Amino acid sequence: MASLKDDVLAKLAAIAAPDGRPLPATGTLSEIIAGDGKVFFSITVDAAQVRTWEHVRASAERAVRSIPGVQSVMVALTAERAGGGGGAGAQSPRPAPGAARPAQPAPGRAHGHGPHGHGPHGHGPQPAGPAGIPGVGAIIAVASGKGGVGKSTVAINLALALRDLGLKVGVLDADIYGPSLPKLLAIKERPQTAGGTRLKPIERHGMPVMSIGFLVEEETPMIWRGPMVMSALTQMLREVDWGSLDVLVVDMPPGTGDAQLTMAQQVPLKGAVIVSTPQDLALIDARRGIAMFRRVNVPVLGIVENMSTFICPHCGTRSDIFGHGGARHEAERLGVPFLGEVPLALAIREKSDAGLPVVASEPEGPHAQAFRAIAERVREGLQVESRPAPKIVIEA
Ligand SMILES: Nc1ncnc2c1ncn2[C@@H]1O[C@H](COP(=O)(O)OP(=O)(O)OP(=O)(O)O)[C@@H](O)[C@H]1O
Ligand SMILES: [Mg+2]
Repeated sequence: MASLKDDVLAKLAAIAAPDGRPLPATGTLSEIIAGDGKVFFSITVDAAQVRTWEHVRASAERAVRSIPGVQSVMVALTAERAGGGGGAGAQSPRPAPGAARPAQPAPGRAHGHGPHGHGPHGHGPQPAGPAGIPGVGAIIAVASGKGGVGKSTVAINLALALRDLGLKVGVLDADIYGPSLPKLLAIKERPQTAGGTRLKPIERHGMPVMSIGFLVEEETPMIWRGPMVMSALTQMLREVDWGSLDVLVVDMPPGTGDAQLTMAQQVPLKGAVIVSTPQDLALIDARRGIAMFRRVNVPVLGIVENMSTFICPHCGTRSDIFGHGGARHEAERLGVPFLGEVPLALAIREKSDAGLPVVASEPEGPHAQAFRAIAERVREGLQVESRPAPKIVIEA
């Protein structure tokens, strides 16, 4: 009996790529994840050819949807970076210039007032937020205006620290353009479909975690069109078996453009944690982030100063490489809580790169303590009670 995957491939064979070849023969298809009526895969093409491939993506989605028994299909068109791009001191190495991220506000452009671009979400505060997710107590976003300030690092360690406080925590990597969770948690496996039509999140450190990065190839910069972003995000929020959670921590993509604003509106957020480094430039972006959440009536739980003081692991000397205390002052100025500082520490970066966040790998160390102090303030802000069992058992 042919598997669903075979059926999908057979359908795709009838679709012609722009050069006339059958789609499966073009080498652009990712692994096809198919089961329980759900199908996910991506088509990766050269960034310059994205426009000519959009109709192929749409045809592929339609064709797969026509297979009897298929209830949900996600076909992502992703773009390979056209050479160069990234690195060279840029705060955020992704995306390819002018390609992979959606419109961001121009530097220095006043933001947070009035609509810009298109889309239905530009006007003023929303009267009612999106519906919550059954079983999930509070959803919080970890965000920043600026890229590379350590959102993902803070998100995963904050989640672990909240777990250490006795809360049942999940993590959603909503950075559709450059997912970090696969790397931060060294996850290579693919999520399985749960009974019915839902996806099972992957379990790590006693937490369910989900990322679009689990569904597409690592290192593939992605171009997402607006509706695709929303459908991917909605699926990851609402069609994943999160189970019963006190808190779902959402790692947001950087920026305060339309895409982030839309996401902030689509996710039923209880609050936002803004991450900033201490220097002025990052703080300007943090301010934009705060303005964005205020605009959509999401309470700002506070600011975390990341990459704060550097303490030399050899001699113990303190140096304030990016300055120190800027975020605390900014929090006071803006009237939002200051949640705490995370030092600039080699261990944090090394452990992150190795897929072992410090709170899990060095739970007694000073960095874990810093994250736990932040987690306590976040919990106060949310007023989430711990469950009776004080510790979650960590699965192997
Ligand atoms: N406190 C810290 N000390 C040392 N290195 C850190 C610290 N916080 C983050 N880093 C490192 O800085 C880099 C960027 O961090 P991270 O990926 O968390 O940032 P981000 O804001 O999520 O980036 P992006 O905007 O690309 O999503 C990573 O290599 C991470 O290990
Ligand atoms: Mg990130």
